[in-house]
Amino acid sequence: MRWIDVASEMEAGHSNGLEVEVAGIALLLRRIDGGIFALSATCPHHAAWLSQGRFGDGRVFCPRHGGVFDLATGRRIAGPFCPDLPVYPVRIVGGRVEVAL
Ligand code: FES
Repeated sequence: MRWIDVASEMEAGHSNGLEVEVAGIALLLRRIDGGIFALSATCPHHAAWLSQGRFGDGRVFCPRHGGVFDLATGRRIAGPFCPDLPVYPVRIVGGRVEVAL
């Protein structure tokens, strides 16, 4: 596992989140309930863009078929059967967001 600088904390904390590509992986950075999370930018079911979904209670709600995923673990909670959502550890260092890949 290595930590990669992906954005400033201010950029990642934007209300709509921030999509970035890191090492060929499309990530969505988003501030939720005071913390910044890094998750796959697309749903593991049929690749809907999760930036267009709803966020709350530590979960993301997919806009296409209603899949629900836990943001801390990526575990699928509800919706169509599919793999869990890839989520990545985040740390803040000197106002920069680093993601572990
Ligand atoms: S694309 Fe997300 S639940 Fe189907």
